[in-house]
Amino acid sequence: MFSNRTNWKIKPNRLSLELESLNKKGAPLLDLTESNPTHCGFEFYKHLPLDGLANPENKNYHPSPQGLKKTRETVAAYYKEKNADLSSEQIILTAGTSEAYAFLFRLLVNPGDTVLVPAPSYPLFDFLADLNDVTLAPYRLSYDALWHMPFENPAYDAAADAKALIVVHPNNPTGSFLKQGELHALNQWASKQNAALISDEVFLDYGFDHSPDRVSTLAANTACLTFTLGGISKSLGLPQMKLGWIAANGPEKLLKTALERLEIIADTYLSVNSPVQNAAPEWLALRGHIQKEIMARLQKNKNFLAGKIKEAPACEMLAQEGGWYSVLKIPRTRTEEEWALELLKKDGVYIHPGYFFNFEKEAFLVLSLLPAEKVFQEGVNRILARTKA
Ligand SMILES: Cc1ncc(COP(=O)(O)O)c(C=O)c1O
Repeated sequence: MFSNRTNWKIKPNRLSLELESLNKKGAPLLDLTESNPTHCGFEFYKHLPLDGLANPENKNYHPSPQGLKKTRETVAAYYKEKNADLSSEQIILTAGTSEAYAFLFRLLVNPGDTVLVPAPSYPLFDFLADLNDVTLAPYRLSYDALWHMPFENPAYDAAADAKALIVVHPNNPTGSFLKQGELHALNQWASKQNAALISDEVFLDYGFDHSPDRVSTLAANTACLTFTLGGISKSLGLPQMKLGWIAANGPEKLLKTALERLEIIADTYLSVNSPVQNAAPEWLALRGHIQKEIMARLQKNKNFLAGKIKEAPACEMLAQEGGWYSVLKIPRTRTEEEWALELLKKDGVYIHPGYFFNFEKEAFLVLSLLPAEKVFQEGVNRILARTKA
């Protein structure tokens, strides 16, 4: 009856079963997995203008496959601030980044073709790949005080048939940005391979320092066919509005064909609703204000963790250049799942174990930096006390 691509083993793991049982009992929990910004007590929501959603223009329907021109122009202006000169014709609006991935997989990949993805990285890739008949080949990022692309990695070399390579810039959860030398090597690889680059930049605006060799954005990359993904779920803390985009660039002929085909894919669904497109320019103008508040929260929580970790010599906070998460290396005295279960049951702290993100080995914990300071600090204190115990 059902397709093979949806033949998932839908069985809750021990951690989700325990969480469900504690929630049923109404047990108070400190949730350090929380990455839904609307649940984290930010002030900017109180002042978010909603007039655009009530714009009388919304009573009309002007279907446009790529999205409304004025909204695409605002997105192009966002990239201009980052020294990437794009025309609005290179922007395609989508109902979030997941849809953007689906469009690109349909554009680039035949059933069974390979796409390279970073590891550790964003867990949703597996489902996005299954749903689009893509085979994923992970390329392992290596860590030695900073995260690096693995140019000698066998998976990366062996994927001679790969149609695309995904970069997450900065990566979730490692917070690492692509460097100029790495982009140069990727461009050489993609040109030789006739493959495309997909750069997921949903966390781009959340960088903690300004290292000179960091790539600003891949939206300006013309050396090979390049699709840069962004959206307001992270850049404006508005996941509920469901607006993302693809910024396409590359050699002229390839780019023209890609845009023609993407137009037809987008025209088939016309999925981005008009009220959001009408409201988005006003929201994007508030970017500085919104990001200031989110950045302050991320910085405060990150600094707290960096200070506290000094009192726990058995643990290490991995270097983090940006993003919404911190990675904690903890003693391998038990498995990550056992750590996570114990923290949940005994300490009322919910965290994600590293294996959710495909870390190569154990034991790592991933902490969201988004929760309110009080929640985050108490959660960290309990985690570190547990590792000492
Ligand atoms: C790396 C990465 N890409 C994309 C997304 C999803 O973005 P959107 O809400 O635009 O679909 C997430 C969500 O956490 C993410 O971590």
